[in-house]
Amino acid sequence: MLTERQKNMLRAIPKAENHIHIEGSIPWDLALKLAEKNHVELPVHTVDEIAKWSRKLITEKGLDGFMICDRTLNSVCLHEEDYEAAVLALAKDDHDQNIIYQELHLDYPLNEERGIPIEVVMEGYRSAQKKAKKLYGVEIVYIAGLDRTLSSERCFSFVKSLRPYLDMIAGLGMDCEENGHPCIKHLESYKEAKDMGLFLTAHAGEDGKADNIWDALLKLGVQRIDHGCQAAYHPDLIEYLKEHDILCAMCPSGNVYSGAAPSFEEHPLLALLRSGVPVSISSDDPPYTYSMTDELILDAEKMGLSEDEMIKIIRNGFEYSISGSHLLPQFDSWVKEWKKGGQNE
Ligand code: ADE
Ligand code: ZN
Repeated sequence: MLTERQKNMLRAIPKAENHIHIEGSIPWDLALKLAEKNHVELPVHTVDEIAKWSRKLITEKGLDGFMICDRTLNSVCLHEEDYEAAVLALAKDDHDQNIIYQELHLDYPLNEERGIPIEVVMEGYRSAQKKAKKLYGVEIVYIAGLDRTLSSERCFSFVKSLRPYLDMIAGLGMDCEENGHPCIKHLESYKEAKDMGLFLTAHAGEDGKADNIWDALLKLGVQRIDHGCQAAYHPDLIEYLKEHDILCAMCPSGNVYSGAAPSFEEHPLLALLRSGVPVSISSDDPPYTYSMTDELILDAEKMGLSEDEMIKIIRNGFEYSISGSHLLPQFDSWVKEWKKGGQNE
């Protein structure tokens, strides 16, 4: 059990979040407002209905069911200001949680499917990135996400279309339904992204096999694994991640709800952490899961994490970030003060 002091520490500590998707994180009340404004017909009309509908889909169909929810609710965004509003809502929430640095996956291809031009989406996100810093003091770093279910050719041309946005995008990722869409399918996209100087990450071993993690590491050359649950069951993979100091950016509650992990108590994060693999904790898609802060509290309680383990996991968010390590001194001095029982209580 966490003490009140520890829970308050998790609420107040400066945080860096490495793994959260804009499209999956549009607050549900905002999604409903945008649907009304843009005359988009949704299958659900209240926050309660969204909660019941999404829980049923995720329980019945796992990650594939979640992606139905993600694509459906993202369809309310049509205009530049809608994309801006989605990110600014997250930035406001970051401020309330003391998330001072956040790596946001943006999946333009989910919007392209609906005929929205890339400029509309990117300019909305660009403007939000600037305002997030100014209004809420949050550094937002974007990771462009490939919808892995699309063809290799489409993904490759998406990567090439990122060239005008390299001032705002720092990384390339790959997400959406993993089963049937192995990482290797997008080898050419990753070669191109490497050439463009992007940081490389990929969702692998979420509900897919460990082989997919090996391919991401050895063939795509990723510098991080998103989720990576399956690694915990393969000692050779654990050794590799440890030796090469590769972060697994994990999101336990999403995994438990989608069936990618058996329970919080047996979540693969524990085995990876205690074998020396760097792990961090993020929310992934907070309206369906929890805010980063609540996720940390829940995971710490259910997994029985020690105080030092919690601090290490949160510190990893900065240490293994794309460009947030300059915030480590701020983090470390906060922790030092807290340990002394100082004024940041
Ligand atoms: N997109 C949003 N959340 C995702 C997840 N957990 N896995 C794959 N794609 C996603
Ligand atoms: Zn994710």
